Amino acid sequence: MTKAFVVGHPIQHSRSPLIHGYWLRHYGIEGSYERIDVAPADFAAFLESFAARGFAGGNVTIPHKEAAFAGVDRRTRRAERVQAVNTLWIEDGVLWGDNTDVAGFVDNLDQNLGENWVQNVDTALLIGAGGAARAVVAGLQDRALRRIVVINRTAAKAEEIVRDFAPVAGPAIVAANWRDLDRLVIEAGLIVNSTSLGMAGQPPLEIDLTSARRDAIVTDIVYVPLKTALLREAENRSLRIVGGLGMLLHQAVPGFARWFNVTPEVTPELEALIVRDI
Ligand code: ATR
Repeated sequence: MTKAFVVGHPIQHSRSPLIHGYWLRHYGIEGSYERIDVAPADFAAFLESFAARGFAGGNVTIPHKEAAFAGVDRRTRRAERVQAVNTLWIEDGVLWGDNTDVAGFVDNLDQNLGENWVQNVDTALLIGAGGAARAVVAGLQDRALRRIVVINRTAAKAEEIVRDFAPVAGPAIVAANWRDLDRLVIEAGLIVNSTSLGMAGQPPLEIDLTSARRDAIVTDIVYVPLKTALLREAENRSLRIVGGLGMLLHQAVPGFARWFNVTPEVTPELEALIVRDI
């Protein structure tokens, strides 16, 4: 029986066991996926010992993604770009780390909009410059956009992303001033909220979509609520919207494929199962 885990601190809130448990049942795989709570002081020891405890690998969540990045033997190019690891596996005795939020972000857009969505997008406006924003930039870098504009309340963090990501071939990446948010909407073919604004219990993202392009796509990484105030406003203006839940579901795919040797599908049935839990 193959065993996998999600490790974090705290970990009770994680919906990953629901997702992987669904796929294990759906594909009739004899395996398990369990939550493991590990305090930061014990994380390095956990990395060293999970294989001996019979685990094929697992997911890593807050607050361990950076420690996982530092602690693995080898990393995928995507993990290198994001500088955080959320998926672990062992290959020929080597501990590997990937960042599947990158694929999760773009696969969610691909599945909801079709892979040609990028054809109408010249400029992407990325709001926020935290950990999630880094995965978004890494995902968009592989697509044929011309420009990614990163805007953040704390300007230094947007500039840091520009510094870290700019050398890679692909779209130009520039930082913008927070007070220019409404003006920047005008040129954006894709608007991404990667801040925590709009999440249940947080204030909404204050943004004026009046001058947004009529063909603009608006997406939010927040998925509680499923449809944020930003997405509702975009929908009212007949813009195309993509919710954040799909990113959570799609980021789970590569890990499951590694541990259990089946590439699982993100189906409406799976989505409905998670929606019932939100
Ligand atoms: P995550 O890993 O989910 O990206 P994070 O790294 O803590 O979380 O990043 C949170 C993002 O939300 C940051 O871009 C943060 O902006 P700052 O860098 O200025 O803190 C943004 N954010 C959170 N609360 C905000 C608020 N009230 N107004 C504007 N941006 C906010």
